[in-house]
Amino acid sequence: MAAIEIPSPVDHDPIEGPRVRFRPIEERDLPDLLRWLADPEVRRYYGEPPASVAAARADYMEPDVSPCWRFVIELHGRGVGEIQYYHQYAGYQEWTAGIDLFIGEPDARDRGVGTEVVRTMLAYLFEMKRLHRVIIDPEVANRRAIRCYEKAGFRFDGVLRHHAFEHGEYVDTYFMSMLEDEWPEARRRWEAERTR
Ligand SMILES: CC(C)(COP(=O)(O)OP(=O)(O)OC[C@H]1O[C@@H](n2cnc3c(N)ncnc32)[C@H](O)[C@@H]1OP(=O)(O)O)[C@@H](O)C(=O)NCCC(=O)NCCS
Repeated sequence: MAAIEIPSPVDHDPIEGPRVRFRPIEERDLPDLLRWLADPEVRRYYGEPPASVAAARADYMEPDVSPCWRFVIELHGRGVGEIQYYHQYAGYQEWTAGIDLFIGEPDARDRGVGTEVVRTMLAYLFEMKRLHRVIIDPEVANRRAIRCYEKAGFRFDGVLRHHAFEHGEYVDTYFMSMLEDEWPEARRRWEAERTR
């Protein structure tokens, strides 16, 4: 059987939203990425940061085992964090994707930016990529992330026991999802909040 080629995580067009923009990670972003990943709030849920620029490059700019595209989140032209979308399996089940994100600049958290970022990615995945389902799996203890994803319209599917291994411990995560027919209502709420 022919091997499936995993695409580059930085070979993607930018994604434009009404308030935030996602652009593929570039070499010049690596020092910021290292700094963001060392921030205590990010580290708490992302584990130990890469040890060097070379390690960050390997983690964030080079292909992994499944297809994944990684972006710097820009707010008014300033990089404030990272978001990625991925398919669990290369070559099939590409009707579903997962997303992960962090806001690395402390002054950009708790101001609605994360919710705006998630909604912008959902709009892209449902409206441009025409996906059927988007998933996210925050740690059960990460109440802020869970609240953010609920605001964007994600629903709870259940608990994944010991689904992550962070700081030397297995931790439970929620499995949250949105289906394509739930997106129009979530988009209406987003638009209503924007015009308020
Ligand atoms: C999680 C994260 C992406 C959310 O982005 P954000 O911009 O901070 O989130 P928002 O401001 O859009 O929404 C946060 C919501 O959680 C609420 N919140 C904050 N801390 C909370 C807590 N300890 N418990 C419950 N809710 C909390 C806020 O009040 C807000 O809800 P509200 O609008 O109803 O008041 C961001 O905080 C982050 O990157 N954190 C560190 C890394 C991380 O956890 N990444 C996610 C891994 S799954």
